[in-house]
Amino acid sequence: MNSYIEMMTNRTSIREFIKDKKIPDEIMNEILLAAQKASTSFNLQTYCAISITNHDDRKRIAELSENQNFITEASAFLIICVDFYKMEIVNEIAGKDYYQKNFFESTLMGIVDASLFGQAVASAAESYDLGICFVGGIRSNIEKIDEILKLPPKVFPLFGIAIGYPLKKNNQKPRLPVEGIFFTNNYDILQVKRALAKYDCISKNDGQYNNRQYKVNEFGFIDPQEYGWIEHSSRRTSTRDMNKVREDLFKYLQFKEVKI
Ligand SMILES: Cc1cc2nc3c(=O)[nH]c(=O)nc-3n(C[C@H](O)[C@H](O)[C@H](O)COP(=O)(O)O)c2cc1C
Repeated sequence: MNSYIEMMTNRTSIREFIKDKKIPDEIMNEILLAAQKASTSFNLQTYCAISITNHDDRKRIAELSENQNFITEASAFLIICVDFYKMEIVNEIAGKDYYQKNFFESTLMGIVDASLFGQAVASAAESYDLGICFVGGIRSNIEKIDEILKLPPKVFPLFGIAIGYPLKKNNQKPRLPVEGIFFTNNYDILQVKRALAKYDCISKNDGQYNNRQYKVNEFGFIDPQEYGWIEHSSRRTSTRDMNKVREDLFKYLQFKEVKI
């Protein structure tokens, strides 16, 4: 196993960081420059990252992101945005009509490219033994986050990345058996069902949901021996909690003139 694969295989998200330990600027720059080399559709690079260094803004963003305090304790917190404003400028300079802004395919391209960049930031940081946690929680109050970041039209926040020196590493969460995500030549429904059943057994035994049953008020408490990945994921995807559904995203993106 090479060292890069070893690093990827052993990683977990980190949510407890050594407080007030700064990441040297050279390392942060290296991480960003390396991540910029990630593939990007047609080299359009329709994304940006905003580093939140202002303490009060960071605290407010943590509150707006479902009170996830580790955001304030991380050495760095980046917000990765999809950025079509650049293409607005490009077309204006070139004297053309930005026709493709009217197509969902453009939106998808921006989301894919921003995500690839974000993952590249994460892996580059982890290669320096830094810990990271992505934060989708910023989408729970996206309009207020947008105001703090002073985003122009056509730029919207996708997720945050908290980066810092790990204080505590959680146990790894096992993933689906690889048969659940990898096929040869065609999708295989039976293979998936078998993998899900196998994974559910593994997850019931590994203790990751001990005292962590999701939304007990909505779904009730069940015998911990019966609570595995299937119960957890079904609760997560069937909850009617508006904070999770984030219905306002649709209106927000329309307001931002993003095609959805
Ligand atoms: C786009 C994205 C958003 C996420 N948002 C959050 C978040 O808001 N809070 C959090 O604690 N973890 C968040 N995570 C981390 C996942 O919960 C984590 O990756 C998953 O549970 C698997 O755990 P592991 O990364 O430790 O293996 C996010 C992950 C992704 C990819």
